[in-house]
Amino acid sequence: MSQTPIRARLSRRCIPGPCLVLLALFSTAPCGAADAPRAAAAGAVASAAPLASDAGVEILAAGGNAADAAVAVALALAVVHPQAGNLGGGGFAVVRMGGEVAALDFRETAPAAATHDMFLDATGTPRPDASLVGGLAVGVPGSPAGLHELHRRFGRLPWQQVVAPAVRLAEGFTVTERLATELAAERELLTRFSATAAVWAPAGSPIGAGSTVRLPRLAASLRDYGARGPSALTSGPAASAIAAAATASGGVLTVQDIGGYRPVWRDPLRFRAFGWDVASMPLPSSGGIILAETCGLLERLRWSTHPAGSPERLHLLAEAWRRAFADRFLLGDPATTLAGPEQLLAAPWLDARAAGIDRERATPSTRVQPWSHARPESTETTHLSVVDGAGDAVAITTTLNGSFGSGVLVPELQILLNNEMDDFATSPGRPNLYGLIQGEANAVGPGKRMLSSMSPTVAWRGRDVLALGSPGGSRIPTATVQVLLAVLVDGATIRDAVARPRIHHQWQPDELLAEESLDGATRVALGERGHRVTLKPRLGEVHAVRRVAEGRVESAPDLRGPGAGGVYPSPGHSPSARQGTRLE
Ligand code: GLY
Repeated sequence: MSQTPIRARLSRRCIPGPCLVLLALFSTAPCGAADAPRAAAAGAVASAAPLASDAGVEILAAGGNAADAAVAVALALAVVHPQAGNLGGGGFAVVRMGGEVAALDFRETAPAAATHDMFLDATGTPRPDASLVGGLAVGVPGSPAGLHELHRRFGRLPWQQVVAPAVRLAEGFTVTERLATELAAERELLTRFSATAAVWAPAGSPIGAGSTVRLPRLAASLRDYGARGPSALTSGPAASAIAAAATASGGVLTVQDIGGYRPVWRDPLRFRAFGWDVASMPLPSSGGIILAETCGLLERLRWSTHPAGSPERLHLLAEAWRRAFADRFLLGDPATTLAGPEQLLAAPWLDARAAGIDRERATPSTRVQPWSHARPESTETTHLSVVDGAGDAVAITTTLNGSFGSGVLVPELQILLNNEMDDFATSPGRPNLYGLIQGEANAVGPGKRMLSSMSPTVAWRGRDVLALGSPGGSRIPTATVQVLLAVLVDGATIRDAVARPRIHHQWQPDELLAEESLDGATRVALGERGHRVTLKPRLGEVHAVRRVAEGRVESAPDLRGPGAGGVYPSPGHSPSARQGTRLE
Protein backbone atom coordinates (compact mmCIF):
# COMPACT_ATOMS: atom_id res chain seq x y z
CA MET A 1 0.00 0.00 0.00
CA SER A 2 2.57 2.55 -1.00
CA GLN A 3 0.40 4.61 -3.32
CA THR A 4 -0.94 8.01 -2.35
CA PRO A 5 -4.71 8.01 -2.66
CA ILE A 6 -6.69 11.02 -3.70
CA ARG A 7 -8.31 11.94 -0.47
CA ALA A 8 -9.74 14.67 1.56
CA ARG A 9 -8.09 14.59 4.90
CA LEU A 10 -10.18 16.22 7.57
CA SER A 11 -7.98 17.02 10.48
CA ARG A 12 -9.02 18.87 13.54
CA ARG A 13 -7.26 20.39 16.46
CA CYS A 14 -8.89 21.42 19.68
CA ILE A 15 -7.63 24.61 21.22
CA PRO A 16 -8.85 26.06 24.50
CA GLY A 17 -12.26 27.55 23.86
CA PRO A 18 -14.08 26.62 20.70
CA CYS A 19 -12.72 23.72 18.69
CA LEU A 20 -11.33 24.67 15.32
CA VAL A 21 -11.95 22.43 12.38
CA LEU A 22 -9.33 22.53 9.67
CA LEU A 23 -9.95 21.12 6.26
CA ALA A 24 -6.92 20.03 4.31
CA LEU A 25 -7.76 20.41 0.65
CA PHE A 26 -8.03 17.46 -1.67
CA SER A 27 -4.78 16.16 -2.96
CA THR A 28 -4.52 16.19 -6.72
CA ALA A 29 -2.07 13.31 -6.70
CA PRO A 30 -2.82 10.35 -8.95
CA CYS A 31 -5.23 7.94 -7.40
CA GLY A 32 -3.66 4.69 -6.33
CA ALA A 33 -2.06 2.02 -8.41
CA ALA A 34 -3.23 1.84 -12.00
CA ASP A 35 -4.41 -1.72 -11.55
CA ALA A 36 -6.22 -1.14 -8.26
CA PRO A 37 -9.87 -2.13 -8.28
CA ARG A 38 -12.14 0.84 -8.72
CA ALA A 39 -15.48 -0.30 -7.41
CA ALA A 40 -15.62 2.25 -4.60
CA ALA A 41 -16.96 5.48 -6.05
CA ALA A 42 -16.51 7.36 -2.82
CA GLY A 43 -16.52 6.70 0.84
CA ALA A 44 -16.22 8.27 4.24
CA VAL A 45 -14.59 7.23 7.49
CA ALA A 46 -14.88 8.59 11.02
CA SER A 47 -12.92 7.32 14.01
CA ALA A 48 -11.13 8.43 17.15
CA ALA A 49 -7.66 8.75 15.62
CA PRO A 50 -6.33 10.49 12.49
CA LEU A 51 -3.91 7.69 11.60
CA ALA A 52 -6.70 5.13 11.88
CA SER A 53 -9.06 7.15 9.67
CA ASP A 54 -6.21 7.48 7.18
CA ALA A 55 -5.92 3.69 7.09
CA GLY A 56 -9.61 3.46 6.18
CA VAL A 57 -9.32 6.08 3.44
CA GLU A 58 -6.28 4.26 2.07
CA ILE A 59 -8.25 1.02 1.82
CA LEU A 60 -11.24 2.74 0.18
CA ALA A 61 -8.87 4.32 -2.32
CA ALA A 62 -7.43 0.91 -3.13
CA GLY A 63 -10.90 -0.28 -4.11
CA GLY A 64 -11.92 -1.69 -0.76
CA ASN A 65 -15.51 -1.62 0.38
CA ALA A 66 -16.90 -0.43 3.71
CA ALA A 67 -16.10 -3.74 5.40
CA ASP A 68 -12.49 -3.72 4.23
CA ALA A 69 -12.05 -0.13 5.37
CA ALA A 70 -13.78 -0.67 8.71
CA VAL A 71 -11.55 -3.64 9.55
CA ALA A 72 -8.45 -1.65 8.55
CA VAL A 73 -9.54 1.22 10.83
CA ALA A 74 -10.25 -1.15 13.72
CA LEU A 75 -6.82 -2.77 13.39
CA ALA A 76 -5.12 0.61 13.11
CA LEU A 77 -6.93 1.71 16.28
CA ALA A 78 -5.48 -1.39 17.99
CA VAL A 79 -2.07 0.18 17.38
CA VAL A 80 -2.47 3.96 17.65
CA HIS A 81 -5.41 4.11 20.08
CA PRO A 82 -4.36 1.37 22.53
CA GLN A 83 -6.58 2.69 25.30
CA ALA A 84 -9.56 1.17 23.49
CA GLY A 85 -8.65 -0.14 20.04
CA ASN A 86 -7.59 -3.71 20.50
CA LEU A 87 -6.75 -7.25 19.60
CA GLY A 88 -7.12 -8.27 23.26
CA GLY A 89 -10.74 -7.17 23.66
CA GLY A 90 -13.96 -7.46 21.73
CA GLY A 91 -16.76 -5.55 20.11
CA PHE A 92 -19.76 -5.49 17.83
CA ALA A 93 -20.34 -4.59 14.19
CA VAL A 94 -23.58 -3.65 12.48
CA VAL A 95 -23.40 -3.94 8.74
CA ARG A 96 -25.58 -3.04 5.79
CA MET A 97 -23.86 -4.44 2.72
CA GLY A 98 -25.35 -5.25 -0.64
CA GLY A 99 -28.88 -5.36 0.71
CA GLU A 100 -27.97 -7.58 3.66
CA VAL A 101 -28.28 -6.26 7.19
CA ALA A 102 -26.27 -8.17 9.79
CA ALA A 103 -24.85 -7.88 13.28
CA LEU A 104 -21.59 -9.49 14.34
CA ASP A 105 -21.05 -10.23 18.02
CA PHE A 106 -17.37 -10.56 18.86
CA ARG A 107 -17.91 -9.68 22.50
CA GLU A 108 -15.57 -11.35 24.98
CA THR A 109 -16.82 -14.35 26.97
CA ALA A 110 -16.11 -15.41 30.53
CA PRO A 111 -13.39 -18.09 30.73
CA ALA A 112 -14.59 -21.67 31.37
CA ALA A 113 -13.26 -21.49 34.93
CA ALA A 114 -15.26 -18.34 35.73
CA THR A 115 -17.73 -18.68 38.58
CA HIS A 116 -20.71 -16.73 39.86
CA ASP A 117 -18.84 -15.51 42.96
CA MET A 118 -15.31 -15.23 41.58
CA PHE A 119 -15.07 -11.54 42.47
CA LEU A 120 -16.21 -12.00 46.10
CA ASP A 121 -14.06 -12.85 49.12
CA ALA A 122 -14.84 -15.59 51.64
CA THR A 123 -17.30 -13.32 53.45
CA GLY A 124 -19.13 -12.56 50.20
CA THR A 125 -17.71 -9.05 49.96
CA PRO A 126 -16.60 -7.75 46.55
CA ARG A 127 -12.81 -7.80 46.22
CA PRO A 128 -11.70 -4.30 45.29
CA ASP A 129 -10.39 -4.02 41.73
CA ALA A 130 -10.47 -7.79 41.08
CA SER A 131 -12.76 -7.37 38.06
CA LEU A 132 -10.90 -4.29 36.86
CA VAL A 133 -7.13 -4.84 37.14
CA GLY A 134 -4.98 -7.90 36.41
CA GLY A 135 -5.61 -11.31 34.94
CA LEU A 136 -8.89 -12.19 36.64
CA ALA A 137 -10.52 -9.22 34.93
CA VAL A 138 -9.72 -10.60 31.48
CA GLY A 139 -12.47 -12.03 29.29
CA VAL A 140 -11.67 -14.29 26.34
CA PRO A 141 -10.67 -11.91 23.53
CA GLY A 142 -13.05 -11.77 20.58
CA SER A 143 -11.42 -9.23 18.28
CA PRO A 144 -8.95 -11.47 16.38
CA ALA A 145 -11.65 -13.89 15.22
CA GLY A 146 -14.33 -11.20 14.98
CA LEU A 147 -12.57 -8.76 12.68
CA HIS A 148 -11.44 -11.60 10.45
CA GLU A 149 -14.98 -12.96 10.28
CA LEU A 150 -16.37 -9.55 9.28
CA HIS A 151 -13.87 -9.41 6.44
CA ARG A 152 -14.44 -13.05 5.45
CA ARG A 153 -18.14 -12.50 4.94
CA PHE A 154 -18.21 -8.99 3.52
CA GLY A 155 -14.70 -7.87 2.53
CA ARG A 156 -13.46 -7.59 -1.04
CA LEU A 157 -9.72 -6.92 -0.86
CA PRO A 158 -7.27 -9.65 0.20
CA TRP A 159 -7.05 -10.00 3.98
CA GLN A 160 -3.34 -9.27 4.07
CA GLN A 161 -3.89 -5.96 2.29
CA VAL A 162 -6.48 -4.90 4.88
CA VAL A 163 -4.10 -5.71 7.75
CA ALA A 164 -1.13 -3.96 6.10
CA PRO A 165 -1.76 -0.37 7.34
CA ALA A 166 -1.82 -1.59 10.95
CA VAL A 167 1.45 -3.49 10.45
CA ARG A 168 3.04 -0.33 9.09
CA LEU A 169 1.76 1.74 12.02
CA ALA A 170 3.07 -0.79 14.55
CA GLU A 171 6.51 -0.37 13.02
CA GLY A 172 6.45 3.25 14.16
CA PHE A 173 3.93 6.01 14.80
CA THR A 174 3.92 9.36 16.54
CA VAL A 175 2.09 9.71 19.85
CA THR A 176 -0.71 12.29 19.70
CA GLU A 177 -1.66 14.75 22.44
CA ARG A 178 -4.73 12.69 23.09
CA LEU A 179 -2.86 9.42 23.59
CA ALA A 180 -0.22 11.13 25.73
CA THR A 181 -2.93 12.62 27.95
CA GLU A 182 -4.62 9.27 28.42
CA LEU A 183 -1.33 7.48 29.06
CA ALA A 184 -0.52 10.06 31.73
CA ALA A 185 -3.97 9.68 33.30
CA GLU A 186 -3.45 5.91 33.58
CA ARG A 187 0.12 6.05 34.84
CA GLU A 188 -0.62 3.95 37.92
CA LEU A 189 -2.23 1.15 35.90
CA LEU A 190 0.42 1.16 33.19
CA THR A 191 3.32 0.95 35.62
CA ARG A 192 1.76 -1.79 37.74
CA PHE A 193 2.83 -4.58 35.33
CA SER A 194 6.43 -4.63 34.14
CA ALA A 195 5.65 -5.80 30.59
CA THR A 196 3.12 -2.99 30.19
CA ALA A 197 5.47 -0.42 31.65
CA ALA A 198 8.27 -1.56 29.32
CA VAL A 199 6.16 -0.53 26.32
CA TRP A 200 4.09 2.43 27.50
CA ALA A 201 6.21 3.90 30.29
CA PRO A 202 9.73 2.72 29.45
CA ALA A 203 11.56 5.36 31.46
CA GLY A 204 9.19 5.16 34.43
CA SER A 205 6.72 7.71 33.14
CA PRO A 206 4.28 7.40 30.24
CA ILE A 207 5.45 8.27 26.74
CA GLY A 208 4.86 11.90 25.78
CA ALA A 209 3.24 13.52 22.76
CA GLY A 210 5.45 13.69 19.69
CA SER A 211 7.51 10.62 20.60
CA THR A 212 7.77 7.80 18.12
CA VAL A 213 6.53 4.45 19.39
CA ARG A 214 7.88 1.30 17.77
CA LEU A 215 6.11 -1.96 18.51
CA PRO A 216 8.09 -4.62 16.62
CA ARG A 217 6.41 -7.60 18.30
CA LEU A 218 2.97 -6.20 17.64
CA ALA A 219 3.99 -5.59 14.03
CA ALA A 220 5.18 -9.21 13.77
CA SER A 221 1.94 -10.46 15.38
CA LEU A 222 -0.13 -8.43 12.94
CA ARG A 223 1.96 -9.61 10.00
CA ASP A 224 1.36 -13.21 11.05
CA TYR A 225 -2.35 -12.44 11.52
CA GLY A 226 -2.39 -11.00 8.00
CA ALA A 227 -0.72 -14.12 6.63
CA ARG A 228 -2.56 -16.82 8.59
CA GLY A 229 -5.73 -15.29 9.96
CA PRO A 230 -6.99 -15.60 13.54
CA SER A 231 -5.15 -18.83 14.35
CA ALA A 232 -1.97 -16.71 14.42
CA LEU A 233 -3.34 -15.13 17.62
CA THR A 234 -5.68 -17.78 19.00
CA SER A 235 -3.54 -20.94 18.91
CA GLY A 236 0.05 -22.10 19.34
CA PRO A 237 2.65 -19.87 21.00
CA ALA A 238 0.46 -16.75 20.75
CA ALA A 239 -2.42 -18.34 22.68
CA SER A 240 0.04 -19.72 25.25
CA ALA A 241 1.54 -16.26 25.69
CA ILE A 242 -1.89 -14.64 26.19
CA ALA A 243 -2.97 -17.28 28.72
CA ALA A 244 0.38 -17.03 30.54
CA ALA A 245 0.14 -13.24 30.82
CA ALA A 246 -3.36 -13.50 32.29
CA THR A 247 -2.56 -16.31 34.73
CA ALA A 248 0.71 -14.68 35.85
CA SER A 249 -1.41 -11.86 37.26
CA GLY A 250 -4.10 -14.00 38.89
CA GLY A 251 -6.31 -14.94 35.92
CA VAL A 252 -7.99 -18.18 34.88
CA LEU A 253 -7.80 -17.80 31.08
CA THR A 254 -6.62 -20.92 29.23
CA VAL A 255 -5.43 -21.69 25.71
CA GLN A 256 -8.63 -23.73 25.31
CA ASP A 257 -10.72 -20.64 26.09
CA ILE A 258 -8.76 -18.61 23.54
CA GLY A 259 -8.82 -21.25 20.81
CA GLY A 260 -12.48 -22.06 21.42
CA TYR A 261 -13.75 -18.51 21.06
CA ARG A 262 -16.25 -17.99 18.20
CA PRO A 263 -17.85 -14.76 17.02
CA VAL A 264 -21.60 -15.02 16.39
CA TRP A 265 -23.73 -13.50 13.62
CA ARG A 266 -26.98 -12.29 15.13
CA ASP A 267 -30.16 -10.81 13.78
CA PRO A 268 -29.72 -7.07 14.21
CA LEU A 269 -32.21 -5.20 16.34
CA ARG A 270 -34.28 -3.59 13.57
CA PHE A 271 -36.96 -0.96 13.98
CA ARG A 272 -38.65 1.91 12.15
CA ALA A 273 -38.32 5.39 13.62
CA PHE A 274 -39.51 8.70 12.21
CA GLY A 275 -39.73 7.29 8.69
CA TRP A 276 -36.27 5.67 8.70
CA ASP A 277 -35.15 2.04 8.97
CA VAL A 278 -32.69 1.50 11.78
CA ALA A 279 -30.48 -1.50 12.59
CA SER A 280 -28.53 -1.67 15.83
CA MET A 281 -26.93 -4.24 18.11
CA PRO A 282 -29.09 -6.89 19.79
CA LEU A 283 -28.25 -8.75 23.02
CA PRO A 284 -25.71 -9.20 24.52
CA SER A 285 -25.77 -5.45 24.01
CA SER A 286 -28.52 -3.48 25.63
CA GLY A 287 -27.75 -0.68 23.16
CA GLY A 288 -30.17 -1.56 20.37
CA ILE A 289 -33.06 -2.17 22.76
CA ILE A 290 -32.44 1.17 24.48
CA LEU A 291 -32.35 2.98 21.12
CA ALA A 292 -35.54 1.30 19.92
CA GLU A 293 -37.39 1.76 23.21
CA THR A 294 -36.38 5.44 23.32
CA CYS A 295 -37.58 6.08 19.76
CA GLY A 296 -40.80 4.13 20.37
CA LEU A 297 -41.60 6.21 23.46
CA LEU A 298 -40.73 9.51 21.77
CA GLU A 299 -42.96 8.76 18.79
CA ARG A 300 -45.85 8.08 21.18
CA LEU A 301 -45.12 11.36 23.01
CA ARG A 302 -45.10 13.32 19.68
CA TRP A 303 -41.63 14.46 20.61
CA SER A 304 -40.93 15.93 17.17
CA THR A 305 -43.62 18.60 17.68
CA HIS A 306 -41.40 20.36 20.24
CA PRO A 307 -38.54 22.60 19.04
CA ALA A 308 -35.03 21.11 18.83
CA GLY A 309 -33.09 21.65 22.06
CA SER A 310 -36.17 22.82 23.99
CA PRO A 311 -36.60 21.90 27.66
CA GLU A 312 -39.79 20.03 26.68
CA ARG A 313 -37.80 17.77 24.37
CA LEU A 314 -34.93 17.20 26.78
CA HIS A 315 -37.33 16.42 29.63
CA LEU A 316 -39.19 13.81 27.56
CA LEU A 317 -35.90 12.32 26.39
CA ALA A 318 -34.68 11.95 29.98
CA GLU A 319 -37.98 10.37 31.03
CA ALA A 320 -37.83 7.91 28.13
CA TRP A 321 -34.30 6.88 29.12
CA ARG A 322 -35.28 6.58 32.78
CA ARG A 323 -37.69 3.85 31.72
CA ALA A 324 -35.48 2.22 29.08
CA PHE A 325 -32.60 1.91 31.55
CA ALA A 326 -34.93 0.53 34.24
CA ASP A 327 -35.82 -2.22 31.76
CA ARG A 328 -32.14 -2.84 31.18
CA PHE A 329 -32.04 -4.40 34.65
CA LEU A 330 -33.59 -7.51 33.15
CA LEU A 331 -31.06 -7.94 30.36
CA GLY A 332 -28.03 -10.20 30.00
CA ASP A 333 -26.44 -12.78 27.69
CA PRO A 334 -29.10 -14.03 25.23
CA ALA A 335 -29.04 -17.41 27.02
CA THR A 336 -29.81 -15.98 30.46
CA THR A 337 -31.62 -12.71 29.79
CA LEU A 338 -34.91 -12.24 31.62
CA ALA A 339 -36.40 -10.09 28.86
CA GLY A 340 -35.75 -9.08 25.28
CA PRO A 341 -37.22 -7.05 22.45
CA GLU A 342 -40.34 -9.24 22.40
CA GLN A 343 -41.28 -7.90 25.82
CA LEU A 344 -39.64 -4.48 26.00
CA LEU A 345 -40.50 -3.29 22.49
CA ALA A 346 -44.04 -4.72 22.40
CA ALA A 347 -46.59 -2.02 21.58
CA PRO A 348 -48.68 -2.49 24.76
CA TRP A 349 -45.56 -2.16 26.91
CA LEU A 350 -44.41 0.99 25.09
CA ASP A 351 -47.96 2.43 25.31
CA ALA A 352 -48.00 1.83 29.06
CA ARG A 353 -44.51 3.22 29.54
CA ALA A 354 -45.34 6.37 27.51
CA ALA A 355 -48.61 6.86 29.39
CA GLY A 356 -46.67 6.90 32.67
CA ILE A 357 -44.54 9.87 31.60
CA ASP A 358 -45.54 13.22 33.11
CA ARG A 359 -44.88 15.97 30.55
CA GLU A 360 -44.28 18.54 33.27
CA ARG A 361 -42.44 16.70 36.05
CA ALA A 362 -39.56 14.26 36.40
CA THR A 363 -40.68 10.91 37.85
CA PRO A 364 -38.38 9.88 40.72
CA SER A 365 -36.51 6.78 39.57
CA THR A 366 -37.60 4.94 42.72
CA ARG A 367 -41.11 5.02 41.26
CA VAL A 368 -40.06 3.47 37.96
CA GLN A 369 -40.01 -0.34 38.07
CA PRO A 370 -38.03 -2.52 37.92
CA TRP A 371 -35.91 -0.64 40.36
CA SER A 372 -32.13 -1.11 40.99
CA HIS A 373 -29.17 -1.79 38.67
CA ALA A 374 -27.46 0.46 36.12
CA ARG A 375 -23.99 1.18 37.23
CA PRO A 376 -22.14 3.10 34.53
CA GLU A 377 -19.79 0.83 32.67
CA SER A 378 -16.27 1.98 32.14
CA THR A 379 -16.08 4.72 29.60
CA GLU A 380 -13.16 3.71 27.45
CA THR A 381 -14.41 2.21 24.28
CA THR A 382 -14.04 3.38 20.70
CA HIS A 383 -16.30 3.61 17.70
CA LEU A 384 -15.69 3.85 13.96
CA SER A 385 -18.03 4.29 11.03
CA VAL A 386 -17.49 3.75 7.32
CA VAL A 387 -19.77 4.21 4.34
CA ASP A 388 -18.69 3.49 0.79
CA GLY A 389 -19.90 4.74 -2.55
CA ALA A 390 -22.27 1.84 -3.00
CA GLY A 391 -24.05 2.99 0.14
CA ASP A 392 -22.76 0.00 2.08
CA ALA A 393 -22.10 0.91 5.68
CA VAL A 394 -20.30 -0.60 8.65
CA ALA A 395 -20.43 0.61 12.25
CA ILE A 396 -18.01 -1.02 14.70
CA THR A 397 -17.75 -0.35 18.41
CA THR A 398 -14.87 -2.10 20.12
CA THR A 399 -13.46 -2.03 23.61
CA LEU A 400 -11.02 -3.20 26.23
CA ASN A 401 -13.62 -1.87 28.73
CA GLY A 402 -11.49 0.38 30.96
CA SER A 403 -8.82 2.62 29.51
CA PHE A 404 -5.95 0.24 28.59
CA GLY A 405 -8.14 -2.64 29.85
CA SER A 406 -6.82 -4.77 32.72
CA GLY A 407 -3.36 -3.20 32.39
CA VAL A 408 -1.97 -6.64 31.48
CA LEU A 409 0.14 -6.65 28.32
CA VAL A 410 1.23 -9.87 26.61
CA PRO A 411 4.96 -9.23 26.24
CA GLU A 412 5.50 -11.58 23.29
CA LEU A 413 2.73 -9.90 21.27
CA GLN A 414 2.62 -6.38 22.77
CA ILE A 415 -1.15 -6.75 23.02
CA LEU A 416 -3.11 -5.29 25.95
CA LEU A 417 -5.79 -7.51 27.51
CA ASN A 418 -9.29 -6.35 28.38
CA ASN A 419 -11.01 -6.05 31.77
CA GLU A 420 -14.43 -6.84 30.34
CA MET A 421 -15.31 -9.16 33.25
CA ASP A 422 -16.26 -5.99 35.10
CA ASP A 423 -19.26 -5.57 32.76
CA PHE A 424 -20.84 -8.57 34.49
CA ALA A 425 -22.91 -8.10 37.62
CA THR A 426 -19.95 -9.15 39.74
CA SER A 427 -22.05 -9.14 42.91
CA PRO A 428 -25.68 -9.66 41.86
CA GLY A 429 -28.42 -8.53 44.16
CA ARG A 430 -26.31 -6.28 46.35
CA PRO A 431 -24.61 -2.95 45.94
CA ASN A 432 -21.40 -3.19 43.99
CA LEU A 433 -18.27 -1.09 44.41
CA TYR A 434 -20.18 1.86 42.96
CA GLY A 435 -23.07 1.47 45.42
CA LEU A 436 -25.47 0.16 42.78
CA ILE A 437 -27.28 -3.10 42.31
CA GLN A 438 -27.20 -5.37 39.27
CA GLY A 439 -29.39 -8.17 38.01
CA GLU A 440 -28.91 -11.94 38.09
CA ALA A 441 -29.44 -12.06 34.31
CA ASN A 442 -25.97 -10.56 33.97
CA ALA A 443 -24.24 -12.63 36.67
CA VAL A 444 -20.83 -14.16 35.90
CA GLY A 445 -20.98 -17.63 34.39
CA PRO A 446 -18.56 -19.74 32.33
CA GLY A 447 -18.74 -18.95 28.63
CA LYS A 448 -21.28 -16.17 29.13
CA ARG A 449 -21.10 -12.84 27.34
CA MET A 450 -21.26 -9.84 29.66
CA LEU A 451 -24.01 -7.30 29.01
CA SER A 452 -22.88 -4.28 27.01
CA SER A 453 -24.24 -0.89 26.06
CA MET A 454 -22.35 -0.61 22.77
CA SER A 455 -24.66 0.55 20.00
CA PRO A 456 -23.13 0.45 16.54
CA THR A 457 -26.03 1.59 14.36
CA VAL A 458 -26.89 1.96 10.69
CA ALA A 459 -29.99 3.88 9.53
CA TRP A 460 -31.28 4.46 6.03
CA ARG A 461 -34.07 6.04 4.03
CA GLY A 462 -33.84 5.54 0.30
CA ARG A 463 -30.28 6.32 -0.78
CA ASP A 464 -29.53 8.22 2.40
CA VAL A 465 -27.43 5.97 4.64
CA LEU A 466 -26.03 6.82 8.06
CA ALA A 467 -23.60 4.87 10.26
CA LEU A 468 -22.80 5.94 13.79
CA GLY A 469 -22.00 4.93 17.37
CA SER A 470 -20.06 6.06 20.41
CA PRO A 471 -17.89 5.02 23.35
CA GLY A 472 -18.95 5.94 26.87
CA GLY A 473 -20.31 2.91 28.77
CA SER A 474 -23.93 3.54 29.72
CA ARG A 475 -23.78 6.85 27.84
CA ILE A 476 -23.29 5.06 24.53
CA PRO A 477 -26.95 4.56 23.61
CA THR A 478 -28.00 7.99 24.84
CA ALA A 479 -25.28 9.80 22.87
CA THR A 480 -25.98 7.68 19.80
CA VAL A 481 -29.74 8.19 19.87
CA GLN A 482 -29.41 11.97 20.25
CA VAL A 483 -27.36 12.18 17.05
CA LEU A 484 -29.75 9.78 15.33
CA LEU A 485 -32.79 11.83 16.37
CA ALA A 486 -31.23 15.09 15.22
CA VAL A 487 -30.87 13.63 11.72
CA LEU A 488 -34.12 11.64 11.59
CA VAL A 489 -36.39 14.20 13.22
CA ASP A 490 -34.81 17.57 12.47
CA GLY A 491 -33.08 16.79 9.20
CA ALA A 492 -29.79 18.01 10.70
CA THR A 493 -26.51 17.41 8.90
CA ILE A 494 -24.36 14.85 10.69
CA ARG A 495 -21.85 17.56 11.65
CA ASP A 496 -24.59 19.59 13.29
CA ALA A 497 -26.09 16.48 14.87
CA VAL A 498 -22.74 15.41 16.36
CA ALA A 499 -21.96 18.93 17.60
CA ARG A 500 -25.24 19.54 19.47
CA PRO A 501 -25.01 19.58 23.29
CA ARG A 502 -26.02 16.28 24.87
CA ILE A 503 -27.74 15.09 28.00
CA HIS A 504 -27.88 11.69 29.68
CA HIS A 505 -30.10 9.85 32.15
CA GLN A 506 -29.76 6.20 33.12
CA TRP A 507 -32.46 5.77 35.76
CA GLN A 508 -30.02 5.09 38.61
CA PRO A 509 -28.46 7.25 39.91
CA ASP A 510 -31.40 9.63 39.54
CA GLU A 511 -29.58 12.57 37.99
CA LEU A 512 -29.65 14.24 34.62
CA LEU A 513 -26.18 14.76 33.19
CA ALA A 514 -25.80 17.70 30.81
CA GLU A 515 -22.84 18.88 28.82
CA GLU A 516 -21.46 22.22 29.95
CA SER A 517 -22.32 23.61 26.53
CA LEU A 518 -26.06 23.25 27.24
CA ASP A 519 -27.33 26.78 27.75
CA GLY A 520 -28.12 28.03 31.25
CA ALA A 521 -31.81 28.80 30.65
CA THR A 522 -32.45 25.23 29.49
CA ARG A 523 -30.65 23.82 32.51
CA VAL A 524 -32.80 25.97 34.79
CA ALA A 525 -35.98 24.87 32.99
CA LEU A 526 -35.00 21.21 33.45
CA GLY A 527 -34.31 21.83 37.14
CA GLU A 528 -37.77 23.36 37.48
CA ARG A 529 -39.26 20.14 36.13
CA GLY A 530 -37.61 18.24 38.97
CA HIS A 531 -34.40 17.03 37.34
CA ARG A 532 -31.19 17.10 39.35
CA VAL A 533 -28.85 18.45 36.68
CA THR A 534 -25.13 17.65 36.90
CA LEU A 535 -22.74 19.19 34.38
CA LYS A 536 -20.14 17.16 32.50
CA PRO A 537 -17.51 18.34 30.04
CA ARG A 538 -18.64 15.76 27.48
CA LEU A 539 -21.03 12.88 27.05
CA GLY A 540 -19.98 10.26 24.52
CA GLU A 541 -17.94 10.66 21.37
CA VAL A 542 -20.05 9.93 18.31
CA HIS A 543 -18.26 9.23 15.05
CA ALA A 544 -20.72 9.32 12.16
CA VAL A 545 -20.60 9.02 8.39
CA ARG A 546 -23.33 9.41 5.82
CA ARG A 547 -23.96 8.88 2.16
CA VAL A 548 -26.36 11.71 1.56
CA ALA A 549 -26.90 10.92 -2.10
CA GLU A 550 -25.13 9.24 -4.98
CA GLY A 551 -21.52 10.43 -4.99
CA ARG A 552 -21.94 12.60 -1.93
CA VAL A 553 -20.54 11.40 1.38
CA GLU A 554 -19.88 13.11 4.67
CA SER A 555 -17.71 12.35 7.66
CA ALA A 556 -18.45 13.77 11.10
CA PRO A 557 -15.89 12.73 13.68
CA ASP A 558 -16.69 14.06 17.12
CA LEU A 559 -14.84 17.25 18.07
CA ARG A 560 -15.16 16.23 21.69
CA GLY A 561 -12.59 13.47 21.08
CA PRO A 562 -11.06 14.88 19.04
CA GLY A 563 -11.61 12.26 16.40
CA ALA A 564 -10.72 12.38 12.76
CA GLY A 565 -12.54 11.76 9.55
CA GLY A 566 -11.63 11.19 5.99
CA VAL A 567 -13.40 10.90 2.70
CA TYR A 568 -12.42 9.19 -0.46
CA PRO A 569 -13.96 10.96 -3.43
CA SER A 570 -14.54 9.28 -6.72
CA PRO A 571 -12.18 10.18 -9.56
CA GLY A 572 -13.71 13.14 -11.35
CA HIS A 573 -15.93 14.02 -8.42
CA SER A 574 -17.92 17.20 -8.75
CA PRO A 575 -17.31 20.34 -6.71
CA SER A 576 -20.60 19.76 -4.95
CA ALA A 577 -19.33 16.37 -3.83
CA ARG A 578 -16.30 18.11 -2.36
CA GLN A 579 -18.52 20.56 -0.62
CA GLY A 580 -20.40 17.66 0.85
CA THR A 581 -17.29 16.55 2.66
CA ARG A 582 -16.51 19.84 4.28
CA LEU A 583 -16.41 20.07 8.06
CA GLU A 584 -17.22 23.49 9.37
N1 GLY B 1 -17.48 -2.03 28.13
C1 GLY B 1 -18.50 -1.14 27.76
C2 GLY B 1 -19.67 -1.79 27.12
O1 GLY B 1 -19.52 -2.88 26.59
O2 GLY B 1 -20.76 -1.28 27.13
